[in-house]
Amino acid sequence: MPNQTAQSITITRPDDFHLHVRDGDAMRSVLPLTARQFGRAIIMPNLPIPVTTVALATAYRERILAALPEAVQFEPLMTVYLTDHTSVDEVWKAAGSGYVHAMKLYPSGATTHSAAGVTDLKHCYKVLEAMQENGMPLSLHGEVTDPEVDIFDKEAVFIDRVLLPLRRDFPELRIVFEHLSTKVAVDYVNSADEFIAATITPQHLLFNRNAIFQGGIRPHYYCLPILKTEEDRQALVKAATSQNKRFFAGTDSAPHPKENKEQASGSGGCFTGLHAMELYTTVFEKENALDSLEAFTSFNGADFYKLPRNKTKVILKKEPWEIPATLPLGSSVVVPLAYKEKLDWKLV
Ligand code: DOR
Ligand code: ZN
Repeated sequence: MPNQTAQSITITRPDDFHLHVRDGDAMRSVLPLTARQFGRAIIMPNLPIPVTTVALATAYRERILAALPEAVQFEPLMTVYLTDHTSVDEVWKAAGSGYVHAMKLYPSGATTHSAAGVTDLKHCYKVLEAMQENGMPLSLHGEVTDPEVDIFDKEAVFIDRVLLPLRRDFPELRIVFEHLSTKVAVDYVNSADEFIAATITPQHLLFNRNAIFQGGIRPHYYCLPILKTEEDRQALVKAATSQNKRFFAGTDSAPHPKENKEQASGSGGCFTGLHAMELYTTVFEKENALDSLEAFTSFNGADFYKLPRNKTKVILKKEPWEIPATLPLGSSVVVPLAYKEKLDWKLV
């Protein structure tokens, strides 16, 4: 239980179970921000040259560790990007590595740098069998890529077309359904067994699809899966605050240079590396559920991934501040989610 007063909350140091930190100069800009908020993070492997092997994950991990500010304690939890050609051997190497914690499924074409992703899960059946056997979780981007399917239905259709057959064939495969965005998906996870859990982002808890169009098109509210209806948002808030152990924090913080989002074909992704914890706290406070915050941000994910819970604490204080309009991102800048809005909580 957090030590909770009106003015401050003390909770176990949280983890981010879905994070894009990119690479090179951009990584050096955003990594310290995440490391300030979180003790560990599941690092997404969708680099321009995707992290498709344990060897690439090892090298990426080294680059992340080297980019951390001195004396900062932060553990990158690595993932390997599944392709049609991933070998069974790679799954066993991943399981034996000690630092690869999931294999990531991007349906080919679903999102940023997903072209090398899986075209049909049938190509991965031997790999999935090995994962079911050695307990390696499958982290998945749950949207179909069929251009005939409406963008707002891609997650629901994924459940029918991909997830149900997958879980029928691999009932004990441990799955993390990433960045839930619909009531349908919440209901599905709620009704399913202990082999499936889900992450929820700050943006899907705070905003519905109107945010993308309020007063003109607002590219910094565009992410994938796209924000959905108010009914969906409310179902997500209910799930996050419900104390169901199979829902946990995964920010999907996905920095893109400002100019790559503000253009004719802008990239998907919301940046919350600066302030995800304050955003989550805002949602939980509004819902009168601050008592459930620690389980969602600091316990449930660690338990599902079979990691020890963090031992240190963080404090959130009632202290109003304004989210900046931009932050440095390599040689460019990134616009944080809810830029220029006020937050009542500050991580100290
Ligand atoms: O909005 C998103 N941005 N969704 C994803 O799935 C990928 C991410 C990115 O890497 O930019
Ligand atoms: Zn992501």
